[in-house]
Amino acid sequence: MKKLTEEIKTMAREQDAVILAHYYVDGEVQDIADYVGDSFFLAKKAKEVQNRTIVFCGVTFMGESACILNPDKTVLIPDADAVCPMALMVEREKIAEMREKYDDLAVVCYINSMAATKELVDVCVTSSNALKIVKNLPQKNIYFIPDKNLGSWIAEQVPEKNFILGDGYCHVHDCITPEDIEEYRSKYPGCKVLVHPECPLAVSKIADYVGSTSGIIDYATESPDREFIVGTEAGVLHELKRKNPDKEFHFIEKSACEDMHRMTLEDVAACLRENSPKAELDEGVRQRAEASLDRMLELAK
Ligand code: 13P
Ligand code: SF4
Repeated sequence: MKKLTEEIKTMAREQDAVILAHYYVDGEVQDIADYVGDSFFLAKKAKEVQNRTIVFCGVTFMGESACILNPDKTVLIPDADAVCPMALMVEREKIAEMREKYDDLAVVCYINSMAATKELVDVCVTSSNALKIVKNLPQKNIYFIPDKNLGSWIAEQVPEKNFILGDGYCHVHDCITPEDIEEYRSKYPGCKVLVHPECPLAVSKIADYVGSTSGIIDYATESPDREFIVGTEAGVLHELKRKNPDKEFHFIEKSACEDMHRMTLEDVAACLRENSPKAELDEGVRQRAEASLDRMLELAK
């Protein structure tokens, strides 16, 4: 494995490549990355970095987003079959229907979506900036797609707006129930419950903290508490433990994101060796999708 890690680092240096990884991918892949983060951090990094090539270790919409923001760079995706199922849960024709129905409408799209959706919407959001962005939009009506859970969590906090929610969901988080939370609370009394807003609203409402992947890591790291109950994807344990070797984390693990865990170090090495697979987009789609991501980066400042 040391040999493979060295080979990846050498090829990345020779090809002027930067490696970005989401906190959900396997720990050994996180460990060879130059930057590891949540979706928002990685979108900002993808825009900032100066390297000729970006290797994006995550699901395909993340590589696509890096490609949208960087028309002049090569974006390599170690596993082109690592697709977020929620990103496909969009009825694109409904967007036009909603625009017909409501005058004063903003179409807000979770970044977990494909470029073919992003090109049709007004602004993208991630779990860490959705509240700020939606609150500051001038429109009264918000069509929030695809995640019904994140959408309903934001709607709870912005009662002055009228939300129409898509019906997509993340299967990893959607299966966590209030009963699971109660069960873990009785098993680990006194532990704070930290969950991702992709969990059902009934779960978010009874948690002690609701936040993005980075939000959960920061909360646990800054807290004086030593033990936590966590409702999110299991890959996050790697960074939680790296930052907090003496703290304990009880994950409500019902299912893992098999797409995020598909890629191996060998896949990362192979994509650098072969300069493939790449995230590639039609230039018209890319330009239209860029507007919604640029708007997110601007409004989240
Ligand atoms: P964040 O990175 O915004 O926490 O989103 C989690 C996720 O599900 C990524 O696919
Ligand atoms: Fe998609 Fe959920 Fe996997 Fe994230 S954790 S990539 S939202 S299925």
